[in-house]
Amino acid sequence: MPLLSENINRDFLDEVVAGELVDSYYHLGITSTDPLIERMRDLRAVVMAGSGPRIDEFARQWSSEHGDAEILVFPKEERFTTRYCAGVLFISHGMGMPSASIAVQELMRLAYFVKRGDLDALDEIFWVRVGTSGGVGLPGGTIVLSTEGVMADLQPYRLLDGRGGYHQFDGTFPRDIVEAIIAANDGSGIPITAGRTVATNEFFIEQFRLDGAIRLADAARKTEWLAWLDENGVRNIEMEGAMIAAYLNYWGFSRFAMVCTTLLNRLEGDQVHSTPEEMHDFVERSGQVVFTYLRTIA
Ligand code: URA
Repeated sequence: MPLLSENINRDFLDEVVAGELVDSYYHLGITSTDPLIERMRDLRAVVMAGSGPRIDEFARQWSSEHGDAEILVFPKEERFTTRYCAGVLFISHGMGMPSASIAVQELMRLAYFVKRGDLDALDEIFWVRVGTSGGVGLPGGTIVLSTEGVMADLQPYRLLDGRGGYHQFDGTFPRDIVEAIIAANDGSGIPITAGRTVATNEFFIEQFRLDGAIRLADAARKTEWLAWLDENGVRNIEMEGAMIAAYLNYWGFSRFAMVCTTLLNRLEGDQVHSTPEEMHDFVERSGQVVFTYLRTIA
């Protein structure tokens, strides 16, 4: 299915494609006239993660799996770390929806330009966030494939619409991609489950932690909130997924996913007590799940 032309800001983007305007992907440090663009026309996947060093590692791993293919390094690193290698754009998005939304908006504009506004070619791109999360009823090290991203009140991601109300976005993740990632990882031995994911605006207060510098909820309210999430099919809590699904759905993309490892079971506590070795293993798993799937498509 082609993308939703009416939801794409084509007035602006088509002028850029036509060369009548230069777009500045300011936070990525390039413009639409940058020579890097010509070398990314084969873009097939966008891999996002919170941390810059992780992105650098991902790009190196992808390069070594592709005969030491050249890694293109975007010039600006103050905000996001961006690499392109063998058809895959790797980018860090920082922490939280305000930061990640900047990365996603600039990436969607960039992808549109790279694919010269061809909606079928754009829809071939696979988008994925690889991250960490707090598990709801799941032990540390479980991989959660999100089926839907919602906010801490279990409502969709929403923003002021500029007309006096709020725009409520669709936070669902395409189910066929969830199934395809599970199938690609069959037999890996990695514990994988699918479920809803809550994305919060704050790590402590909105995740009902009792160990923040500021604490608004008491232990009873926290237990109640987590039980409510559990009953409503939420398997993990993080800080970006509802927005990422919202923006990609708004354009009508059909291939995207979020793959997060759980660092702890929030029904049992607030602090992460895993050893550095366990933590390394937990985080590695999510990358492994994504790379296994990527190898089948990119
Ligand atoms: N990331 C989150 O947002 N919450 C957690 O509990 C762990 C990782």
